[in-house]
Amino acid sequence: MTQNEPTVFKGLAGVVVDRTAVSKVDPDSNSLLYRGYPVQELAAQRSFEEVAYLLWNGELPTEDELAEFEEQERSLRHLAPAVRRVIDELPETAHPMDVVRTAVSLIGANDPQVDDASPEANRAKGLRLWAQMPSIVAYDQRRRHGLDLIEPRDDLGYSANFLFMTFGEVPELVVVEAFDVSMIMYAEHSFNASTFTARVITSTMSDLHSAITGAIGALKGPLHGGANEAVLHTFDEIGAGPGAGERAEAWLHRTLDAKHKVMGFGHRVYKHGDSRVPTMYTALITMIEHYDRPDLLELYESLAAAMKARTGILPNLDYPSGPAYHLMGFDTLTFTPIFVAARLTGWTAHIIEQTAANALIRPLSLYNGHEERHLA
Ligand code: ACO
Repeated sequence: MTQNEPTVFKGLAGVVVDRTAVSKVDPDSNSLLYRGYPVQELAAQRSFEEVAYLLWNGELPTEDELAEFEEQERSLRHLAPAVRRVIDELPETAHPMDVVRTAVSLIGANDPQVDDASPEANRAKGLRLWAQMPSIVAYDQRRRHGLDLIEPRDDLGYSANFLFMTFGEVPELVVVEAFDVSMIMYAEHSFNASTFTARVITSTMSDLHSAITGAIGALKGPLHGGANEAVLHTFDEIGAGPGAGERAEAWLHRTLDAKHKVMGFGHRVYKHGDSRVPTMYTALITMIEHYDRPDLLELYESLAAAMKARTGILPNLDYPSGPAYHLMGFDTLTFTPIFVAARLTGWTAHIIEQTAANALIRPLSLYNGHEERHLA
């Protein structure tokens, strides 16, 4: 490094780029607040719909406000024929994140308010996308199995309807509740990579659908949202059942010796454990008991123990959510699109916030290419 050379903050690690009132991630107290409320309290006492309302409006809804909000969301769930046609045109081998990204882009091209960046319009556009996301994700999983689209039911809450549209029936309440908890846990997490992507796109005064399309692209990667899918690939590779403990340990050492990352572990911000894991772990245990799969728990615990013993690195939210979604019956490929449906709430809140106090996001770089040279 030469004198006066600027410091490079690789990966923007440790850089505070703006203020936000949407959520607070505190690695020291290991806490996560949505608009001031601990996420654990929200998961225990409130529905995903109430949390979405909170993120978008800054306050929890009154009874009347919630009733109106739920009615609006339920009335917007149906897919336009054009969206269904485009999904049908995509190969069944397409990754569901590509399907979801394409659908959002198409919905944006058809949205009459696409270029209206007022908070009211952004809230309305976010609501329309959020309401349709289960229809897109569920239909995509079903078509991969040769099954037809199930129309949404407007007598069901967000999570119950999501499960109904995927599986054709509403599972027992304990499953709906565990799914709802996962949606609340995934809803918001300050300036993570996908939210930051959405804010960068918004900062150019582009539109909400473009910002969310970009955010979906960022979320797809296995270092971010794609990790919940990757956890299940790891579990499949190791295999649950007798001897899982030894297999998990051997697998872990092979993986780390080869300098590969173990998906579902580690976090850029939390260094003493992800604040969301205990709540999601409880939901996973409930699912393991409900579906009577102690073998999966043994594999889960063995891998986590071996990782902690060798590296001290702890699980992140994707580690318990992956197996929980698996037990509920979702295809592994569907896990990250579920994360999209949840995080759409946080993305929309950040897009509104970025628009309200905008500054173009344009960092600097330190050139390390060729010295100046000239054409002969
Ligand atoms: N497996 C193996 N080693 C790891 C892991 C992991 N999961 N996480 C961190 N490390 C190691 C790194 O190899 C590095 O070691 P080194 O110093 O010897 O080179 C050290 O810990 C620091 O790791 P970084 O990658 O620099 O930490 P960073 O803060 O940049 O990474 C990240 C955070 C990307 C999440 C990382 O922990 C990771 O890749 N985890 C796996 C992917 C994952 O689960 N992502 C989900 C994130 S949470 C979410 O989206 C809900």
